[in-house]
Amino acid sequence: MKAGVFDSGIGGLSVLKSIVDARLFNEIIYYGDTARVPYGTKDKDTIIRFSLEALDFFNKHNIDILIVACNTASAYALKDMQKISKIPVIGVVEPGILALSNNVQDKNKNILIIATKATIKSKAYETKLLKLGYKNIQSLQTGLFVSAIEEGITSGEVLDSIIRFYFKEQQIPDAIILGCTHFPLIQDEIKRYFDNKPLLIHSGDAIVQYLIKKHDIKAQSNIPKIKYFASSNKKFIEDIAKKWL
Ligand code: DGL
Repeated sequence: MKAGVFDSGIGGLSVLKSIVDARLFNEIIYYGDTARVPYGTKDKDTIIRFSLEALDFFNKHNIDILIVACNTASAYALKDMQKISKIPVIGVVEPGILALSNNVQDKNKNILIIATKATIKSKAYETKLLKLGYKNIQSLQTGLFVSAIEEGITSGEVLDSIIRFYFKEQQIPDAIILGCTHFPLIQDEIKRYFDNKPLLIHSGDAIVQYLIKKHDIKAQSNIPKIKYFASSNKKFIEDIAKKWL
């Protein structure tokens, strides 16, 4: 089975890693829209337009399933993509919600959602969590993490000061939804800031469980063949992928 994995940049590699580790496909096409990252600062129409253009790109590669490994695109463009696509298109929001509700049964626990400005504005996570009965939800835009990660900054003093800037008013939450696929790349730093206490929900792990349970996709014995594409600077994606995968 051949899958497509789409993100605005390198963040989707965190999802790709989970999918590769779980050996869910024998071929994967990764596409990062690095020429136009970040999506999280753009408006709804632009995010939908970019995502539909990505769908066009994947249509040329004969994939069997498309994974939108970008929360921002999943929050705004998933329905439009599904409407015109002939193959299944899976986003990361629903799997993330499912992963949280499987791991946090007590609806009074403090849940912190961190994501891009656009994802937070969409309330994609918040609305679904409220519907499930969670009472203590906080949402926080942390878009600067995306720029830092795209710059290759995943530890050190710059990242520490961004973490302090965003979290200085925060109590330690019981769970954090990493509502942007870039964030798993700095998850150890985030967790450490909160004394390693919160449970972190990661889109990659969530989507693997979702694909197995809801789409009946089974592990293969071989390591998948992966091809990388980018709208700019493909080598950067390949270099980061080599490091992380
Ligand atoms: N990795 C993306 C997400 O999950 C998008 C980051 C961005 O392009 O702003 O939201």
